[in-house]
Amino acid sequence: MNTTIKAMLTCCIAACSILQAQAADLPIKITKRYLNFPISQEQKRGNMKFSIGGKKEREFKIRLANGEPEYWVFCDMTQYKGKTITISYDGDNAGLSKIYQDDKIAGQDSMYHEKNRPQFHFSTRRGWINDPNGLIFYEGEYHLFYQHNPYEKEWENMSWGHAVSKDMIHWQELPVALHPDDLGTMFSGSAVIDYNNTAGFNKGKTPAMIATYTVDGHDKQVQCMAYSLDKGRIWTKYKGNPLIDSKEKWNSRDTRDPRVFWYEPGKHWVLVLNERDGHSIYNSANLKDWTFQSHTTGFWECPDLFELPVDGDKSKSKWVMYGASDTYMIGSFDGKKFTPESGKHYFTTGTIYAAQTITNIPESDGRRIQIGWSRLSHPGMPFNGMMLLPTELTLKTTKDGIRLFSTPVKETEQLFEKAGQWSNLKEADANDKLKTYNTSDRLRIKTTVKLSHATSAGLNLFGQHIIDYDMNMNLINGTFYSPEDMTSMELTADIYIDRTSVEVFIDNGAYSYSFQRKADAKNTEGFHFWGTNIDVKNLEVYTVKSIWE
Ligand code: FRU
Repeated sequence: MNTTIKAMLTCCIAACSILQAQAADLPIKITKRYLNFPISQEQKRGNMKFSIGGKKEREFKIRLANGEPEYWVFCDMTQYKGKTITISYDGDNAGLSKIYQDDKIAGQDSMYHEKNRPQFHFSTRRGWINDPNGLIFYEGEYHLFYQHNPYEKEWENMSWGHAVSKDMIHWQELPVALHPDDLGTMFSGSAVIDYNNTAGFNKGKTPAMIATYTVDGHDKQVQCMAYSLDKGRIWTKYKGNPLIDSKEKWNSRDTRDPRVFWYEPGKHWVLVLNERDGHSIYNSANLKDWTFQSHTTGFWECPDLFELPVDGDKSKSKWVMYGASDTYMIGSFDGKKFTPESGKHYFTTGTIYAAQTITNIPESDGRRIQIGWSRLSHPGMPFNGMMLLPTELTLKTTKDGIRLFSTPVKETEQLFEKAGQWSNLKEADANDKLKTYNTSDRLRIKTTVKLSHATSAGLNLFGQHIIDYDMNMNLINGTFYSPEDMTSMELTADIYIDRTSVEVFIDNGAYSYSFQRKADAKNTEGFHFWGTNIDVKNLEVYTVKSIWE
């Protein structure tokens, strides 16, 4: 380019950016589905507001890129089509003019096929996710709401994202269900169907789906509700919010994550709420007026409480109470009080956090299915976090007492195709069989190894320990594990490897763990069984379909 033109252009660009820097308000008539925003993590967050005719519609924090964007995020504007909104921004607004509307999300063409996109775990199109919220099955659809920042790949602007699925495997993302409001941001909570119209929101024969959630306000956390009459798409917040404001009682701002369910024997609603040092039980007849009943100390965040048959026998059931870390107590529950009998135990560790079980699964199915947030990132991607595979929880009698087991739900089976199975291999032969799969971006491996010494043995992938079983210390990847038969020299593992994660289920779900997949760049070994003279009694390899195809 000729230097004079270049100089003129530079001048013009500089003048334009001055203009933009002064113009903090951008009126825009919405004619397309999405607004696309350029983002840079280097930029400071500013407040962005959408208003119509001077009335605030939405407000959130965003790091608008003032130069080359690192990535793009979007906002679904369907509800504003035909209207003129004014976008105002109090941050560095050099990027305002780059905001554009389109019927496509910026980057739509490569959506779900980006280099480090999980291929059989749910992740969001853009932005941050944490806890699953409002997990519920209704009229043939599983709903996954989740803690979501649609505007950045880091935690902020907590909203309820929303995805639906017919099989818990293939998900379709829908517009954000709950946006922050004047009370605060939308923290975790749960959903129920109000079949008996106890709250009075039902319309004709259509029962309301009711979400109970925490609003994180300026100086406290309060519990609120919203309802939907169209299967969770459009939500109306209850005018009488908040329902519970217990900051003063507990002298703590930490009162959150209401978990609501119907207690059939007492014919009333139960709400489990984490308050300061544990989980409280509240009761209600109408989902609006809640009465405190009892409190179990020793838990932090994200309560769950449910009944499960022991060894499949419905006449022998127990209640399980857990918190965000998934450590649990087993006990009894009378609708008002949980009485612990044993604990705290763990059945899963690693990246899992804030898991929740799905409510309203028909009795004919009867499963208790859990989905947990996986705290991991996907290098270079415009999104963060993902959901682990849905797992079925069961209670079984073990040598240590009654314990929770978890295994991926049967719906996952459709993803796998057996590529090979071998038995009674020596270590080197097993490594050889796996060679072809060293560079697979996703794979499932089932294996049973038999140790010859009570020392360490396991399986690596490019230097990373998928299994590191230390029989001397009774540790698997650093966590205490003692098999049902304590003299057993065998260990079975069902291993799910995705582009950025690994999930391992030991001995039919007695223990499971997950971690970020991180190959050691200098390691050339690929899959590698190791230990002193171990036998690979069984080795099965499955290719995995993408859920995004
Ligand atoms: C758990 C948690 C919840 C809270 C939410 C906020 O990860 O801290 O207690 O409701 O995340 O995003």
